[in-house]
Amino acid sequence: MIHYEQTNRTFHLRNDFVSLVLRVQLDGDNEPELLMPYLGAPLCDPASCLYLCAPRGGASFDSPRQTLPYACPTDGRGDYRPALVCAVDGQGQRCTELFYAGHRIEAGKPGLNGLPAAYVEDAAEAETLFITLRDALTGLEAELRYTLYADRPVITESILYTNTGSAPLTLQSAGSACVTLPGRYDLIHLHGAWAKERSIERVPPARLSREISSCRGASGHEHNPFAVLAAPDATEFSGECLGAALVYSGDFSITADENAYGSTRLTLGLNPRSFTWQLHPGEAFQAPEVLFAYSANGLNAMSQALHSLIRQRVCRGYWRDRERPILINNWEATYFDFDPEKILKIARAAAEDGIELFVLDDGWFGKRNRDNCSLGDWVVNREKLPCGLDGLSRDIHGLGLKFGLWFEPEMVSPDSDLYRAHPDWCLHAGSRRRTTARQQLILDMGRREVQDYVIEAVSGVLRSAQIDYVKWDMNRNFMEAGSDTLADGRQGETAHRYMLGLYRVLETVTGAFPQVLFESCSGGGGRFDAGMLHYMPQTWTSDDTDAAARLSIQYGTSLCYPASAMGAHVSAVPNHQVGRVTDMRMRGDVALGGNFGYELDLSAQTDADRAEIRRQVRQVKVLRRTTQQGVFTRLLSPFAGNVTAWQFADEDRVILCAYRVLNMPNGEPLRVRLRGVPEGLYQAAEGSTVSGSDLMRAGVPLPFAPHDFASCVAVFERIRKVL
Ligand code: GLA
Repeated sequence: MIHYEQTNRTFHLRNDFVSLVLRVQLDGDNEPELLMPYLGAPLCDPASCLYLCAPRGGASFDSPRQTLPYACPTDGRGDYRPALVCAVDGQGQRCTELFYAGHRIEAGKPGLNGLPAAYVEDAAEAETLFITLRDALTGLEAELRYTLYADRPVITESILYTNTGSAPLTLQSAGSACVTLPGRYDLIHLHGAWAKERSIERVPPARLSREISSCRGASGHEHNPFAVLAAPDATEFSGECLGAALVYSGDFSITADENAYGSTRLTLGLNPRSFTWQLHPGEAFQAPEVLFAYSANGLNAMSQALHSLIRQRVCRGYWRDRERPILINNWEATYFDFDPEKILKIARAAAEDGIELFVLDDGWFGKRNRDNCSLGDWVVNREKLPCGLDGLSRDIHGLGLKFGLWFEPEMVSPDSDLYRAHPDWCLHAGSRRRTTARQQLILDMGRREVQDYVIEAVSGVLRSAQIDYVKWDMNRNFMEAGSDTLADGRQGETAHRYMLGLYRVLETVTGAFPQVLFESCSGGGGRFDAGMLHYMPQTWTSDDTDAAARLSIQYGTSLCYPASAMGAHVSAVPNHQVGRVTDMRMRGDVALGGNFGYELDLSAQTDADRAEIRRQVRQVKVLRRTTQQGVFTRLLSPFAGNVTAWQFADEDRVILCAYRVLNMPNGEPLRVRLRGVPEGLYQAAEGSTVSGSDLMRAGVPLPFAPHDFASCVAVFERIRKVL
């Protein structure tokens, strides 16, 4: 899979789906530079693309370096495009020159120290190439790690920076990966805000630098740490595209830069805007990992490669491959206003309807009856819950349900015992004011004693009662993000040290309670990234639970993330975020597109809706293996029209889900063609049979009910593998 060719000093990472070529080429002074001339469809002969490495011939005003596809571009040496590395020495010099110093190839894929990453279960699944680059003057080394998976169109990259010199260096930028592709590319990315996360935006080629980023201390609602370079003619089903996802949950920057010489460079890594790092002699700094997925056949194939990689080799643990329980969460049913009676009433109704897990949301601890206090005091509020968590959990289990609990462990309320005891434990910038948001401050997770406090606080609660599920929330972003523990000149390390601390906490807590199902959340989907999914296999997709709004949110999220990662709940109408009224069928059919659950007072639903809920629960139990583990395909986009459709398929069945937002008089009969349906004979719900290829050729009619917000789900069970 990874071949090294000595004569041309060329590395070829190749499987049946993708090729990556790297080459060591001497510059004008005979220094060995590392170039990446090719990433794309599998090549027979890597030598055929080496001409791409040659600098432009003929007279040129500028440095030839500005045209070369550097694998690890640095600042200050005439490349001019966005760089990965900027290391400043004691004199303030920013120039770094990294030249090839050696390489090795290993079977498998090692983990990253302190950071989440994709993994292998068997060394035969992948090979890893380590290339060391070195700056002779400062001693800065960059070890580039490229892993090629044998059976996936996937390559991962990360960089380990080491100071092998004798003087300290300050990293002002320590990027993760860089790819330079010939030609012009559309940049596709996911943008949004609270309650409207991950809309798809496709930006045409432009001769300028386009950046998506976060400096919020979380990957954020606004941009997602994921981008696609797509050929301008690429569609969902054809054309070339390269998806790139950072396995990181904090501040990031992704740039797509098109230069005057016809190439597009993509860089990914920590956001230099909120980052510096002092690297003393002998110290190393690990940059986060990037997952690249290549497709020659459009965006769906790229997404499917990312879905299976993230589901099978980023997510971990007991719940990774297991069917996820149907849950009911009390947040929108009660907000802070609950007592055991209210909770048990909802739980009793849930048990009657076949729901499997009850989740108690915010408000069970300290003296929290509003969002103005008690974060940090993770002790049950006995006034509200006299039976304690163990009593409540016993009652809920007695009904045949599992019991889950909400936490927001990274936060502290100024009105809390924790803050009164440790006012220095929150992020703050010296004597500057501490700006609250949602009336809370953020704990400095970079501090060891804070990490240990959080580990013990959460673990103590999890030990105190039978708790089967945790919703791990994070409800504000950074301001005045400094840390008391960092010496002068090191404040720029605060944001990344926060993430390292958080990852240590998550590794410890999820490791100590391996059978607990953890779901991450950040004001809905404000930290929906591959980093969090390494610790918790699902994320609350958005606080907007309106069925029509959820179409775009879930569709957009699917560009990178699998359905098994998306929490999707049916909530009450009028919807609490947008006031819209949709029928129970539509709400259930939309939630079927993710980890299914409810977020309403079941005991307050009409008989007809309760009957529909029971039908949904029965249906989800049958279909969830396919919706959570099958192949997801986008068919019709909510960003392009009134009808949205997607499909799930595995060896046994195909499920078509279609949604029409607005009804119209005399609408045309609609049909949608399925895609990638395994061959064979299928049984449709009405008892008729149809061949897999006809489902793709002729399509499936969509008999929408004659009203707004209508949906239809058609299930085709495979009854024979051959016709
Ligand atoms: C966030 C979450 C919600 C809910 C509230 C509780 O907004 O996204 O689902 O848990 O916090 O305060």
